[in-house]
Amino acid sequence: MGKITIAIDGFSSTGKSTIAKQLAKALDYVYVDTGAMYRAVTLFAMRQGFIGGKRDDLEGLGNALSGIDLKFVYNKSLGFSEMYLNGENVENEIRTLAVSQQVSKIATIEKVRLKLVAMQQEMGKKKGVVMDGRDIGTVVFPDAEFKIFMTASPETRAFRRYKELLEKGEKVTYEEVLKNVQTRDYIDSHREFSPLRKAEDAIEFDNSDMGLKEQLERMYNFALRKIGG
Ligand code: DC
Repeated sequence: MGKITIAIDGFSSTGKSTIAKQLAKALDYVYVDTGAMYRAVTLFAMRQGFIGGKRDDLEGLGNALSGIDLKFVYNKSLGFSEMYLNGENVENEIRTLAVSQQVSKIATIEKVRLKLVAMQQEMGKKKGVVMDGRDIGTVVFPDAEFKIFMTASPETRAFRRYKELLEKGEKVTYEEVLKNVQTRDYIDSHREFSPLRKAEDAIEFDNSDMGLKEQLERMYNFALRKIGG
C-alpha cells in the first residue's frame, strides 16, 4: 500500500504531538515535531543574546542561521526522536516556559520559516510521515492526503500545559500559563508569514472533551481509509 503524508496543525497544547506520535507509531510512519525546530532556533537565539537582552536583534539572528545545525536523533529507549542543536541534546531545555515565551516571536521571522520549511519538506519527501505544527497543511505540504486541524479551549489547553510543567518541576502559576497560551495563539494566527489557519480541506478535531484513545482510534481509521485510496 502506498504511503501518504499526514499533516496535523492546530493551536499550542491541543495534544497534537501526543496524537501525532501515536498515530505515526500505529502506522509505522516517521513522526516530525516541527515545533521542536522553532524551539531549538529560539534557544539558540537566547543563548547567543539575539533575544532576551535589552534589545532584540532579529535581523542578526536571520543572518546567523547558517550556524544552526538541527537534527532529530531517534532515542530507542524512549521510542521517539529528540532534538539536537549543534550536536547537543536540547530536548528538555526547549520545553521550558522561558523558551515558550519567546518562540512565537522567532516563528514570525521569514528567514527562519524559509529555512525550517525547506528542511521539513526534505524530511517528508518520501511520504510516510506524520508532521505536526502550524503551517504543515497550508504551506509545508499543501498536497498532504490527510490534514487534521486540532482545537480545544484555551482554558483546557492551559490546564494541560500547567500540569505538564508542574510535573517537570517548573514553578509556574496557571494564570501565567494561560496568558502564554493566549499570547501565542494571537501571535501564531496573526503573523504575516504563514499564519496558523485551518486548511480548507483539513478535518477539524475539537478535543476539549475527547479522550486520547477515542481521538487516536478515529484518526487511525480515517488514515487507513485515506491510505486505502
Ligand atoms: O507546537 P509547539 O508549541 O511546540 O510550537 C512552538 C511554537 O513554534 C509555536 O508558538 C508556533 C511555532 N510553530 C510555527 O510557527 N510553525 C510550526 N510549523 C510549528 C511551530
